[in-house]
Amino acid sequence: MTLLALETSCDETSAAVVRDGKILANIVSSQIKLHAEYGGVVPELAAREHLKNLLPVARAALHAAGLAIPADQPLPIDAVAATQGPGLGIALLVGFKAAQAVAFALNKPFVGIHHHEAHLYSPWIASRSAAADGTSSLYADFAAFQPNVSLIVSGGHTLLVLVESELKHRVLGGTMDDAAGECFDKTGKLMGLAYPAGPIIDQLAEAGNPNAFSFPRPLLHEAHDDFSFSGLKTSVRYFIRDHAALLQDRSSVCDLCASVQAAIIEVLVKKTLRAAQREGVRCVTASGGVTCNRALRAALEKACRKSGVTLRLAEKSLCTDNAAMIGILAERKLLARFPESSRDEEIKPGWALT
Ligand code: KG4
Ligand code: ZN
Repeated sequence: MTLLALETSCDETSAAVVRDGKILANIVSSQIKLHAEYGGVVPELAAREHLKNLLPVARAALHAAGLAIPADQPLPIDAVAATQGPGLGIALLVGFKAAQAVAFALNKPFVGIHHHEAHLYSPWIASRSAAADGTSSLYADFAAFQPNVSLIVSGGHTLLVLVESELKHRVLGGTMDDAAGECFDKTGKLMGLAYPAGPIIDQLAEAGNPNAFSFPRPLLHEAHDDFSFSGLKTSVRYFIRDHAALLQDRSSVCDLCASVQAAIIEVLVKKTLRAAQREGVRCVTASGGVTCNRALRAALEKACRKSGVTLRLAEKSLCTDNAAMIGILAERKLLARFPESSRDEEIKPGWALT
């Protein structure tokens, strides 16, 4: 089965071609530079940029997958998928409606995908270099690592999910206010760093002392799995108001970055491991843009090793939003819904799974 998948939920325009668990192409066009000027993603601008970039990105994905065929022939695609939500409404609409239109024109099934559910798959996609044929693909044994507890951390979301078995999961907790990535970005803005501040804090923190300044670890000792980062952000705001001179000194800024980062990471790692132990799972996974953070990756590795839990981190290129994870999940859903033998008879033109 060959699927074309589109993702436009936030500020990445992405198209992927997936076939039998293999990612034949995954093209991502980031809008970060456009939004940096405004200090955050502007939904209207994001949607307009998706409108401009989606077809070239989709064409590039088809070309990279070896499916660039003459215009008078139908695309050799068996199904089309797109992110259905959550995300920025007007940005989502661009990819979702385009994918539906392609499915309609080709008389092929359409699959609408939950963005977070797709993130659960990115840690299970093997790197291109690991595969003999140079193609990224879903690990054949990924189901053996279920049940697992999965941390999804991005600019918009902080979630702990219990994956009980394939396509069966339960949200254990989420953020009550700011997401972890938002906390990186907003505290970085208070320090005068550019958007998105997460990767810059990651860099600066490397040269800083994480114990230099003390910031709160919100909800760390609460028994539930929810997160809250707005109090931490406010505490950084007051700290900077009272110690404004620190921002003139590079090594103090590095200490500040390291201290804020340590507070965020301690909450994420301890709550994730605690949930894993309580649920009795032997595997933890993590994905989402914040998982690119080197100190978070190292802290998760250390904590999982200490607890005897297997850790699967998404590759950095698949931590951030991409259509490959959308296509991989769409194919799993179609395979689960239609066993091979009945697929051709059962999937009717116009059939949709949303
Ligand atoms: O998943 P993503 O690309 O987009 C969504 O928000 O959906 O995540 C972007 C977020 C931003 O908040 C960004 O600052 C954060 O991920 N981020 C990082 C790092 N790289 C990206 N945060 C901390 N350290 C990083 N290295
Ligand atoms: Zn995402």
